[in-house]
Amino acid sequence: AKITYIEHDGTSHTIDCENGMTVMEGAIKNSIPGIDADCGGACACATCHVYVDGAWKDKTGSAEQMEEDMLDFAFDVRDGSRLSCQIKVSDEVDGLVVRLPEKQF
Ligand code: FES
Repeated sequence: AKITYIEHDGTSHTIDCENGMTVMEGAIKNSIPGIDADCGGACACATCHVYVDGAWKDKTGSAEQMEEDMLDFAFDVRDGSRLSCQIKVSDEVDGLVVRLPEKQF
């Protein structure tokens, strides 16, 4: 599925991510700057924070409790904030757009 990552400065990267990966893994694998993912996807670091574009919220679902708790540690949390290691890539989210925060902590 195609995922578009937009950096804080507006630089946009559209990547073809394999289904079953997470949005975080897709970013790391393709060296997208702006996602650190220090914990490697265990929902334990909050450095894979992204903003899900409003139009995609229904498709990506909402954060589970553990993710919500971890998001408290993220920088500049807003409406649409998610941890990208908790969003799975599938055909459902083909075309997904996520924006990256100014920094991860
Ligand atoms: Fe650590 Fe997502 S990679 S919370």
